[in-house]
Amino acid sequence: MNDAQQNFPEKLKACWHPVSYSIEIKKEKPLGTFLLDEALVIWRTSDGSVHAMRDICIHRGTALSLGWIKDDCLVCPYHAWEYNNKGACVFIPQAPDIDIPKKAKTPTYYCVEKYGLVWVALEKPLYQLPEIPEYNDKEWKFVNTGPFDWKSASSRQLENFTDLGHFPWVHPGLLGDPKRPEVPECKVMVKDRVLHYEIVRPEATNTEDFPVFANDDIVKPERRSVYELHLPYTIVLRLGWGGAKGMLYLFVSQPISQNESRGYCIIGRNYNLDEADTVLQNFEQVIFDQDKRIVESQRPRQVPFDLTEELHLKFDTVAMHYRRAMKRHNLDY
Ligand code: FES
Ligand SMILES: [Fe+2]
Repeated sequence: MNDAQQNFPEKLKACWHPVSYSIEIKKEKPLGTFLLDEALVIWRTSDGSVHAMRDICIHRGTALSLGWIKDDCLVCPYHAWEYNNKGACVFIPQAPDIDIPKKAKTPTYYCVEKYGLVWVALEKPLYQLPEIPEYNDKEWKFVNTGPFDWKSASSRQLENFTDLGHFPWVHPGLLGDPKRPEVPECKVMVKDRVLHYEIVRPEATNTEDFPVFANDDIVKPERRSVYELHLPYTIVLRLGWGGAKGMLYLFVSQPISQNESRGYCIIGRNYNLDEADTVLQNFEQVIFDQDKRIVESQRPRQVPFDLTEELHLKFDTVAMHYRRAMKRHNLDY
């Protein structure tokens, strides 16, 4: 553990966090990333399973993610020591006949793949990942957008995704209209570590560039957004227009360090299945870039979880519930 890591609450290390899209982890090449300031290497063995280990070679501290994969082992790029998926060094080319010292290993972490993401927990995970039955439904198609790298804590990135008052100002014409600045009524129900809330608002018109919403044969010209906010940094949002057409957003933020995050936004729909993925990907790039310049300007870079800091009005009810719940579950820092 390094010094910076001690600033994170223990419970945060026992949560699943995303560390990459599944498609980013190829069989031939490891990937280096950071989670809660811990250097991680993510890689696959030939059976397709994915592994997460500390990205530091015990010999001279080199990043294993700069190395390569050979015979289901991760090979350090400096002196080619070979590590298996349990993190044990199993071959030292400079001394092939010695008994390998017990110390020759690197820590491994809990690692699973779900919803097209690789998830890692640094300690034994306390919570399940959210249930998203649509993901395995043949009528639905999912598209990866981003990822979105921001110089802000995951708490700021997450709260921005739940913020209902900014749409007309930050995303005019795309998600909101400055002529309608009011935030619809929204009640938050908290069940354990999940916040449930929903809003209904008039549908924003589809633009010619981004025909992404199901606005054609809608039953009512309004959109219902049903949110599940899973502490600490996951949102499942379902959009509906009163008919059979539905859209689903899985947004989840990787806490890279105290001031850096990476957002993954996976979008599913049961309509427009033939539309090119780039339409949604380009749309979200525009939206997230509009948010990024605002959120990266926020100080402090982490959400202040004490409600006496900043100023909350009634329409900020989601943020107030989020901040209280994060504190209650000892997930705040
Ligand atoms: S630093 Fe990794 S093998 Fe020497
Ligand atoms: Fe936004």
